[in-house]
Amino acid sequence: MTYAGNLTNLSDIENLPNYTFVKADITDKEQVRLVFEKYKFDGIIHLAAESHVDRSIMYPDSFVLTNVVGTLNLLNAANARWKEDFSDKLFYHVSTDEVYGSLGKEGYFTEETAYDPRSPYSASKASSDHLVRAYFHTYGLPVVITNCSNNYGPYQFPEKLIPLMIHNIKNNKPLPVYGKGENVRDWLWVPDHVEAIDLVFHNGKRGETYNIGGSNEWKNLDLVRRLCSIMDKKLGRNEGASANLITYVKDRAGHDLRYAIDASKIKKELGWQPSITFEEGLDKTADWYLTNETWLNNLISGAYMSYYEKQYEKR
Ligand code: DAU
Repeated sequence: MTYAGNLTNLSDIENLPNYTFVKADITDKEQVRLVFEKYKFDGIIHLAAESHVDRSIMYPDSFVLTNVVGTLNLLNAANARWKEDFSDKLFYHVSTDEVYGSLGKEGYFTEETAYDPRSPYSASKASSDHLVRAYFHTYGLPVVITNCSNNYGPYQFPEKLIPLMIHNIKNNKPLPVYGKGENVRDWLWVPDHVEAIDLVFHNGKRGETYNIGGSNEWKNLDLVRRLCSIMDKKLGRNEGASANLITYVKDRAGHDLRYAIDASKIKKELGWQPSITFEEGLDKTADWYLTNETWLNNLISGAYMSYYEKQYEKR
């Protein structure tokens, strides 16, 4: 529930009898303790995090507070609550492939790859992963961790590459490509990540880590060009019209060159598979943003615009 939080994203489920919303701050120990006292959880899926690398470069402190201290508070609350009987309990920490650092042109991140985080964001996620494993080894807290590649799809906050580009293409605004656009990301359709989380939550082995990724590597520039061509068709523009908006801007500080996940463990052990092609996923994503303009416009408030100006104006 910080700047990217949006309760309307949950409107589909808000009337379900097994859903309860509690607004509390994970950096506040006492609030966390009270929630654990009131509700008798047997499982936690911990997704609360500051997630945007560019913001972590500008404001590292909030990443350490939410991602490290917040995770520690949840671990302490779960440990205190469950310590009499750990059976049938699970603390599931959702993390990122960025903890492994940056790949060269070859190779993949496996669950055995040594941690080498390079941004304040990835360092904070690596710290929290280490704390989760430490609670498993030290206290016997039943934990599981997943490290996932770049997600895309509906409801993604427009600071991320794909929704940002869709929005700018639609509004004929410059498309800011960092550096030469040669960095590579491995893209995953968000419902496929959700499916993986469900599988790991129910069938994952305690103390284990699973990497999740779409085996779908794209150079940023190729991806932005692909989006331009999809949007040209949808908006009835001439082929190539939107690509003219591409603008090379100053590179992100410490920009990791390439991420690529070896997801064979989750595929082999839990039977997970990505469900759709990138082509289909991008098409659905573009349609979603075009038909959910109000959702987007409600987010692009004053606060988002001042971030946008700070991030891009002198680049
Ligand atoms: O790999 C998983 C991670 O993916 C998650 O853990 C992070 O929470 C998530 O934000 C994402 O991190 P990235 O930094 O890879 O995502 P982002 O959408 O910010 O950028 C994707 C690539 O596009 C990256 O190489 C930077 C580049 N980029 C991004 C923006 C916003 C641009 O060239 N221009 C832009 O305006």
